Amino acid sequence: MKFHILGTGNFGNMVAHYLRKHNHKVTLFLRTPVNFAQFKKFQQKITINQPNGDAEQTQGYDTEVLREFDIDELVERHFHYGACPPDLQIQRLIVTTKAQDVNKSFRKIFYRLSPTSTIVLLTNGMGVYEELMEDFFSQDEKLRPNILMGATTHIVYRTKLVNSSFDLSHYGIGEIDLGIIPRKEVESDVTLNDNDNNEVNNEVKDNSDNLKTNSNESNSKIPKLPILDINGNELPSIPENSLRTTLEALTSIPELHCRHVNVLTIQNRLLENLVINACINPLTAIFNIRNGGLLFNRGADRVISAICKESTQIMQKHREFLGMKPSNRFGTERLIDAIYQICKSTVNFKSTMSQDVTTRKITEIDYLNGYLVKLGKFYGIPTPVNKLIVDLIYMKHIISSSPKNLKRSNII
Ligand SMILES: NC(=O)c1ccc[n+]([C@@H]2O[C@H](COP(=O)([O-])OP(=O)(O)OC[C@H]3O[C@@H](n4cnc5c(N)ncnc54)[C@H](OP(=O)(O)O)[C@@H]3O)[C@@H](O)[C@H]2O)c1
Repeated sequence: MKFHILGTGNFGNMVAHYLRKHNHKVTLFLRTPVNFAQFKKFQQKITINQPNGDAEQTQGYDTEVLREFDIDELVERHFHYGACPPDLQIQRLIVTTKAQDVNKSFRKIFYRLSPTSTIVLLTNGMGVYEELMEDFFSQDEKLRPNILMGATTHIVYRTKLVNSSFDLSHYGIGEIDLGIIPRKEVESDVTLNDNDNNEVNNEVKDNSDNLKTNSNESNSKIPKLPILDINGNELPSIPENSLRTTLEALTSIPELHCRHVNVLTIQNRLLENLVINACINPLTAIFNIRNGGLLFNRGADRVISAICKESTQIMQKHREFLGMKPSNRFGTERLIDAIYQICKSTVNFKSTMSQDVTTRKITEIDYLNGYLVKLGKFYGIPTPVNKLIVDLIYMKHIISSSPKNLKRSNII
């Protein structure tokens, strides 16, 4: 099966490697010619080092260097969403850029998607899906591609000596939960272009057995869960196209530990990950420490507790708004416990935000604590601690930047 990877950094290349290992065709979208030159230096192979010291390598990737298009050029070449030439079409897109880069990277490829394509969003943080919908697919919900949202606990980073995203350590073997985001106001008689030949036709036919009510969480390897709305009600039948085969392929790769879960489960996982990452990522970044540095530290305990208290109030209102039943899953004590469990199992791990601050990259803070602040504003809940954390990360970013980059406007 054919997959495209948007965001060929640490996480994206790990997913690419396991797809390739299981004989899928994988195209890597490389951001610049420099990234391509670097891949060539690695003989166009990806190496993954396992926690037990074994190393495995894959090759045979297709590559494309991305480039910006302006709208006039797309029109002139008759490239537009849902109808670009067959050789350019993307049926399965795995998105693994950082949250703040998703929209920018999407601009380069969105016209190659169609309503029969499937986007797998594996980026951390919240708010990316909403941004994509607003900027690219706001006109008609039923015409957007299928969307699978993922929540992951895998940990992968560059091996120290090599320092390249083509030579990685799969440090934490985790899981990926995938949930289908249902379309709003779908119509049962939607007709779509079958642009993935027989595969699409088979998938559309297949759809009839996919709609049985079952609101329980499922760990099933066979993706037969129903498509439910947020209240757990069945949605009318819609042609899924590449959706089913994407789920089948991903859930059948043992190393990825992918599970298909229902939409309620994925929403809960994403919200839980949001709070966990909103504590661990900025604190480890501000103090330049590994996750274990947050353990046995009374000051850290108080800050984590304060972030969690604000988050508990926000989650209660937000889940109510989404029509979800009350649950003690987002109680302050439970969230704090979950955070310490993660810190204990990843003692030596440097969070992605901490790595970004060290390498002077823009961080995902707006999609973590920044998102909590936005939700707080919406529900009228004060969020002074999360606001302060956002500002501290902005401050850290500027301080970490080279003095040459410090502008007067940044200092005042
Ligand atoms: N690494 C992990 O263990 C892990 C675990 C769970 C979740 N995640 C999440 O996965 C996401 C990716 O993390 P990561 O660690 O893989 O980050 P990363 O190594 O920085 O990879 C991001 C990739 O996106 C590319 N990119 C940035 N802007 C782009 C654009 N405009 N067009 C095309 N490509 C672009 C980057 O290219 P350049 O390198 O050229 O900038 C880089 O290859 C994040 O949301 C992270 O929180 C990571």
